[in-house]
Amino acid sequence: MKLLIESSPYAIIATDIKGNIIVFNRAAEELLRYKAEDVLEKIHITQLYPPGVAKEVMKKLRSPDYGGEGKFTGSEFKVVDRRGKEIPIHLSTAIVYQDGQEVASIGIFTDLRPRLVMEQELQETHLQLIQLEKLRSLGEMAAGVAHEINNPLGGILIYASLLMEGLVSDDAKREDLGRIIQEATRCKEIVRSLLEFARQSGPKLELTDVNRAITDGLHFLENQATFHNIEIIKELDPSIPPLWGSAGQLKQVFLNIMVNAADAMHGRGVLTIKTFFARDGDKVAIEFSDTGGGIPEDILPRIFDPFFTTKRVGEGTGLGLSMSYGIVREHRGNIEVDTVVGSGTTFRVLLPVGYEEAPAQEGAGNP
Ligand SMILES: Nc1ncnc2c1ncn2[C@@H]1O[C@H](COP(=O)(O)OP(=O)(O)OP(=O)(O)O)[C@@H](O)[C@H]1O
Ligand SMILES: [Mg+2]
Repeated sequence: MKLLIESSPYAIIATDIKGNIIVFNRAAEELLRYKAEDVLEKIHITQLYPPGVAKEVMKKLRSPDYGGEGKFTGSEFKVVDRRGKEIPIHLSTAIVYQDGQEVASIGIFTDLRPRLVMEQELQETHLQLIQLEKLRSLGEMAAGVAHEINNPLGGILIYASLLMEGLVSDDAKREDLGRIIQEATRCKEIVRSLLEFARQSGPKLELTDVNRAITDGLHFLENQATFHNIEIIKELDPSIPPLWGSAGQLKQVFLNIMVNAADAMHGRGVLTIKTFFARDGDKVAIEFSDTGGGIPEDILPRIFDPFFTTKRVGEGTGLGLSMSYGIVREHRGNIEVDTVVGSGTTFRVLLPVGYEEAPAQEGAGNP
């Protein structure tokens, strides 16, 4: 019997009627990180629970409402290990009677941590699926609308330009016409990014030097006024291998993230860009850290949603991150965000290495 208890994969703890521990098996040692000899007859059962919990367990145990009097068929609680860390467990417990008298109680504890980790992973996968689905249906709608709007917009631009050409250089109407052309051009740009967002084909794959894509993007940005007062620190690992991907699309992703960083810093701060091997070397991480204001918790879950923006009309369409997310997912990668309000944000793009083998070029080369 003793051997059976010792070998149980579940932690088994028994106490005498006063709550002194009299059985503490090997799994209990592992769960609570005590040695049996330090616990047996030395520690009171209440010390293994957070304050008040042992009492609650005893109360339920004596009540007929939780699986019968003297039995308690299970509920989730926390126990406290030797270092004071709380561990979520599932507990089933019973009072041991002898000749109608309570003589001891016995509890079986199951560690819930592996289950909780699994549940969290499941939930994350679920959220990612929802996000992808949202992107897909929005992409379809956006593509439809964008195609429809493109032609009339082209018409407006052409006729406005023709009118402009027919006006003498000091005509008072030139300014109004100029505004029409300017605004229509902006519409065209929005339509263009919508169409890009809705690209239904997969990325065109080529061996892409990630460090190079970053440096190219930076060259472009450093000439923009918004970057003039931003210090850029580069820590690019030269040993990361070229990845199968679309250089153009990845560059677009990096640009989006860097422009967001500059916006968050209102043109003044430090942007740190790192590339390195991550997750045991089977992924390459590209990390962009800014010293901006961070992202408040309530908007964090929405930043990858299409059209979500906190910027003023005309300053952002809210497509940057959703497009980037779509592209990175097509590259079988992921984007992670760490943010601290008031001190800054890190966007981490993770891409799989697997460069020896080109993935199937599904749909590549299509417009
Ligand atoms: N580095 C960052 N720091 C703080 N907030 C950020 C950062 N990056 C993104 N955000 C928030 O996420 C929102 C969505 O970003 P996203 O790039 O998708 O759209 P946008 O920048 O507003 O517009 P667009 O990129 O289409 O011009 C931003 O409006 C901003 O509120
Ligand atoms: Mg943006």
